[in-house]
Amino acid sequence: MDNAFIATTFDWDHRTPTDRQRFFNKVLRKLRIGAQLTPVPGHMANVEARMNLFHLLEQTVANMVPGDVVDVGCNAGDSTIVMQRVITALAPEKQVHAYDSFEGLPVLSANDSKDGVYAQGHMAAGLDLFTRKFNDLGLKMPHTHKGWFEDTIPSQLPDRISFALIDGDLYESTRHVLPHIYERMAPGAIGMIAVYYDAAIYPRKGLPGGYRSPGVKRATDEFFKDKAEKVSLLYANEYSNGYFRKR
Ligand SMILES: C[S@@+](CC[C@H](N)C(=O)[O-])C[C@H]1O[C@@H](n2cnc3c(N)ncnc32)[C@H](O)[C@@H]1O
Repeated sequence: MDNAFIATTFDWDHRTPTDRQRFFNKVLRKLRIGAQLTPVPGHMANVEARMNLFHLLEQTVANMVPGDVVDVGCNAGDSTIVMQRVITALAPEKQVHAYDSFEGLPVLSANDSKDGVYAQGHMAAGLDLFTRKFNDLGLKMPHTHKGWFEDTIPSQLPDRISFALIDGDLYESTRHVLPHIYERMAPGAIGMIAVYYDAAIYPRKGLPGGYRSPGVKRATDEFFKDKAEKVSLLYANEYSNGYFRKR
């Protein structure tokens, strides 16, 4: 299927300079200043991260991996929209499930607050906004599960999972959901971990906290220490994504 909808559904083509920026960029070049202006990237993900999502999910459909699709930490639904579009077009028998507090991040544990990146309530986006986006696009509404992961994930995941996007940003949120999702994943299923940044593989100086979520890597690496699967890093410009394929 085509994936141009990733660029056209939302204003995600954010690195194309505006007319004003193009003008200033000309001046910068004339002055031989080695910098160029581009629009600020999105806060939740960027075009590259959504492309990674598209290709990984499409791969599980092409490989006919059984099970449903889950988006754990769906926020306002922008990634869920990509997932539902792929599923509606290619595997309409599968269900898409989306989980979030719809109130932003929970109270931070000491393990998360020490990173100094996030705070309680960060990124709050309501279920009404999520619903409106799907209605406006005329897209099938996924099953939504409002609440803290600790309350919803143990009992409200589908029995079999073919693809999971895990995007909770925090150590505790990631640590809590991984075992529940992992045990329900079918062989060949893919888990994509948003904002999994590994400085040893992709060193970037001065990368702001929101583009690296250190707690996500800690919790993920701890979980996979005694597993057969390996988490690989995918380039996503300002972001990085991790993914693993269930054996
Ligand atoms: C970075 S945002 C998700 C962005 C979304 N996946 C996207 O691509 O647009 C992280 C989300 O995880 C949710 N979240 C984090 N920890 C949670 C928890 N323990 N329970 C419920 N929601 C949680 C937050 O409310 C927030 O909306």
